[in-house]
Amino acid sequence: MAIWYKNEDNSLSAAVFIQMAAQVWPGDYQPQAIQRALQRTINITAWDGGKLVGCVRILSDGYLFGTIPELLVLKEYRGQGIGRELMRRAAELSPTSLYFGAQPEAMGFYEKLGLQPSLPSFQIKKKRQ
Ligand SMILES: CC(C)(COP(=O)(O)OP(=O)(O)OC[C@H]1O[C@@H](n2cnc3c(N)ncnc32)[C@H](O)[C@@H]1OP(=O)(O)O)[C@@H](O)C(=O)NCCC(=O)NCCS
Repeated sequence: MAIWYKNEDNSLSAAVFIQMAAQVWPGDYQPQAIQRALQRTINITAWDGGKLVGCVRILSDGYLFGTIPELLVLKEYRGQGIGRELMRRAAELSPTSLYFGAQPEAMGFYEKLGLQPSLPSFQIKKKRQ
Protein backbone atom coordinates (compact mmCIF):
# COMPACT_ATOMS: atom_id res chain seq x y z
CA MET A 1 0.00 0.00 0.00
CA ALA A 2 1.31 3.48 -0.85
CA ILE A 3 2.34 5.79 1.98
CA TRP A 4 0.20 8.92 2.19
CA TYR A 5 0.98 12.16 4.01
CA LYS A 6 -0.99 14.74 5.92
CA ASN A 7 0.26 18.32 6.30
CA GLU A 8 -0.84 20.32 9.35
CA ASP A 9 -2.35 17.24 10.97
CA ASN A 10 -4.39 18.91 13.70
CA SER A 11 -6.35 15.76 14.37
CA LEU A 12 -3.30 13.70 15.37
CA SER A 13 -4.23 12.12 18.71
CA ALA A 14 -1.83 11.61 21.58
CA ALA A 15 -2.73 7.91 21.73
CA VAL A 16 -1.79 7.34 18.08
CA PHE A 17 1.36 9.46 18.35
CA ILE A 18 2.52 7.70 21.53
CA GLN A 19 1.86 4.28 20.04
CA MET A 20 4.30 5.14 17.24
CA ALA A 21 6.83 7.25 19.16
CA ALA A 22 7.27 4.66 21.92
CA GLN A 23 8.38 2.11 19.34
CA VAL A 24 11.21 4.43 18.28
CA TRP A 25 12.01 5.99 21.65
CA PRO A 26 10.55 4.02 24.56
CA GLY A 27 9.64 6.36 27.42
CA ASP A 28 7.06 7.53 29.88
CA TYR A 29 4.65 9.50 27.67
CA GLN A 30 1.86 11.36 29.51
CA PRO A 31 -1.13 11.42 27.12
CA GLN A 32 -2.61 14.75 28.26
CA ALA A 33 0.74 16.55 28.15
CA ILE A 34 1.52 15.01 24.77
CA GLN A 35 -1.86 16.16 23.43
CA ARG A 36 -1.08 19.74 24.49
CA ALA A 37 2.39 19.48 22.92
CA LEU A 38 0.90 18.24 19.63
CA GLN A 39 -1.50 21.18 19.60
CA ARG A 40 1.43 23.62 19.77
CA THR A 41 3.28 22.25 16.74
CA ILE A 42 2.73 21.92 13.03
CA ASN A 43 2.54 18.16 12.59
CA ILE A 44 3.22 16.36 9.33
CA THR A 45 2.31 12.70 9.39
CA ALA A 46 2.98 9.65 7.18
CA TRP A 47 0.45 6.82 7.05
CA ASP A 48 0.27 3.28 5.76
CA GLY A 49 -3.49 3.00 5.43
CA GLY A 50 -4.70 3.85 8.95
CA LYS A 51 -1.35 3.23 10.63
CA LEU A 52 0.88 6.14 11.62
CA VAL A 53 4.38 5.23 10.39
CA GLY A 54 6.21 8.57 10.52
CA CYS A 55 5.92 12.09 11.85
CA VAL A 56 7.81 15.36 11.91
CA ARG A 57 6.81 18.30 14.08
CA ILE A 58 7.70 21.97 13.59
CA LEU A 59 7.80 24.46 16.44
CA SER A 60 8.11 27.99 15.10
CA ASP A 61 7.52 31.52 16.40
CA GLY A 62 6.49 32.48 12.89
CA TYR A 63 9.23 35.05 12.36
CA LEU A 64 12.57 34.66 14.14
CA PHE A 65 13.08 31.04 14.96
CA GLY A 66 11.87 27.52 14.32
CA THR A 67 12.97 24.05 15.32
CA ILE A 68 12.10 20.41 14.83
CA PRO A 69 11.26 18.74 18.16
CA GLU A 70 11.49 15.33 16.54
CA LEU A 71 11.43 13.36 13.32
CA LEU A 72 10.40 9.73 13.60
CA VAL A 73 9.91 6.88 11.16
CA LEU A 74 9.01 3.36 12.33
CA LYS A 75 11.95 1.00 11.94
CA GLU A 76 10.22 -1.33 9.49
CA TYR A 77 9.35 1.63 7.22
CA ARG A 78 12.82 3.18 7.03
CA GLY A 79 14.90 3.35 3.87
CA GLN A 80 11.99 4.08 1.53
CA GLY A 81 12.11 7.86 1.43
CA ILE A 82 9.57 8.66 4.17
CA GLY A 83 12.04 10.67 6.29
CA ARG A 84 13.14 12.62 3.23
CA GLU A 85 9.53 13.41 2.23
CA LEU A 86 8.62 14.50 5.78
CA MET A 87 11.63 16.85 5.82
CA ARG A 88 10.77 18.20 2.35
CA ARG A 89 7.29 19.04 3.57
CA ALA A 90 8.65 20.53 6.80
CA ALA A 91 10.91 22.85 4.80
CA GLU A 92 7.97 23.85 2.60
CA LEU A 93 5.46 24.41 5.42
CA SER A 94 7.65 26.09 8.02
CA PRO A 95 7.21 29.87 8.18
CA THR A 96 10.81 30.24 9.42
CA SER A 97 14.24 28.71 9.03
CA LEU A 98 14.64 25.58 11.13
CA TYR A 99 17.51 24.89 13.55
CA PHE A 100 17.65 21.53 15.25
CA GLY A 101 19.91 19.04 16.95
CA ALA A 102 20.73 15.71 15.32
CA GLN A 103 21.16 12.34 16.98
CA PRO A 104 24.68 11.15 16.11
CA GLU A 105 23.25 8.18 14.19
CA ALA A 106 21.05 10.50 12.11
CA MET A 107 23.87 12.81 11.00
CA GLY A 108 24.36 10.86 7.76
CA PHE A 109 20.65 11.19 6.97
CA TYR A 110 20.71 15.00 7.22
CA GLU A 111 23.92 15.12 5.20
CA LYS A 112 22.24 12.95 2.52
CA LEU A 113 19.47 15.55 2.37
CA GLY A 114 22.08 18.21 1.64
CA LEU A 115 21.29 20.25 4.75
CA GLN A 116 23.83 22.76 6.03
CA PRO A 117 25.32 22.07 9.48
CA SER A 118 24.35 24.71 12.03
CA LEU A 119 25.77 25.88 15.34
CA PRO A 120 26.58 23.27 18.01
CA SER A 121 23.89 23.26 20.68
CA PHE A 122 23.67 23.55 24.45
CA GLN A 123 20.77 22.78 26.74
CA ILE A 124 19.18 24.06 29.91
CA LYS A 125 17.66 21.00 31.55
CA LYS A 126 14.37 21.24 33.43
CA LYS A 127 12.33 18.59 35.16
CA ARG A 128 9.08 17.88 33.37
CA GLN A 129 6.09 19.42 35.20
C1 LIG B 1 16.52 9.23 10.65
C2 LIG B 1 15.22 8.68 10.06
C3 LIG B 1 14.09 9.70 10.27
C4 LIG B 1 15.41 8.44 8.55
O1 LIG B 1 14.17 8.07 8.00
P1 LIG B 1 14.07 7.18 6.65
O2 LIG B 1 12.65 7.18 6.23
O3 LIG B 1 14.71 5.86 6.86
O4 LIG B 1 14.95 8.03 5.66
P2 LIG B 1 14.89 8.00 4.04
O5 LIG B 1 14.52 6.62 3.59
O6 LIG B 1 14.04 9.12 3.56
O7 LIG B 1 16.41 8.28 3.69
C5 LIG B 1 16.85 9.34 2.84
C6 LIG B 1 18.30 9.08 2.49
O8 LIG B 1 19.10 9.09 3.69
C7 LIG B 1 19.76 7.84 3.87
N1 LIG B 1 19.73 7.54 5.30
C8 LIG B 1 18.64 7.26 6.05
N2 LIG B 1 18.98 7.10 7.35
C9 LIG B 1 20.32 7.27 7.40
C10 LIG B 1 21.26 7.24 8.47
N3 LIG B 1 20.88 6.99 9.73
N4 LIG B 1 22.57 7.48 8.17
C11 LIG B 1 22.96 7.73 6.91
N5 LIG B 1 22.10 7.80 5.84
C12 LIG B 1 20.80 7.56 6.09
C13 LIG B 1 18.98 6.84 3.05
O9 LIG B 1 19.78 5.75 2.65
C14 LIG B 1 18.52 7.69 1.88
O10 LIG B 1 19.58 7.82 0.96
P3 LIG B 1 19.29 7.79 -0.65
O11 LIG B 1 18.42 9.00 -0.91
O12 LIG B 1 20.62 7.85 -1.25
O13 LIG B 1 18.54 6.53 -0.92
C15 LIG B 1 14.84 7.34 10.71
O14 LIG B 1 15.95 6.47 10.63
C16 LIG B 1 14.43 7.43 12.18
O15 LIG B 1 13.26 7.68 12.49
N6 LIG B 1 15.38 7.20 13.10
C17 LIG B 1 15.10 7.17 14.55
C18 LIG B 1 14.73 8.52 15.09
C19 LIG B 1 15.76 9.57 14.77
O16 LIG B 1 16.94 9.37 14.96
N7 LIG B 1 15.27 10.70 14.27
C20 LIG B 1 16.11 11.82 13.96
C21 LIG B 1 16.36 12.56 15.23
S1 LIG B 1 17.55 13.83 15.07
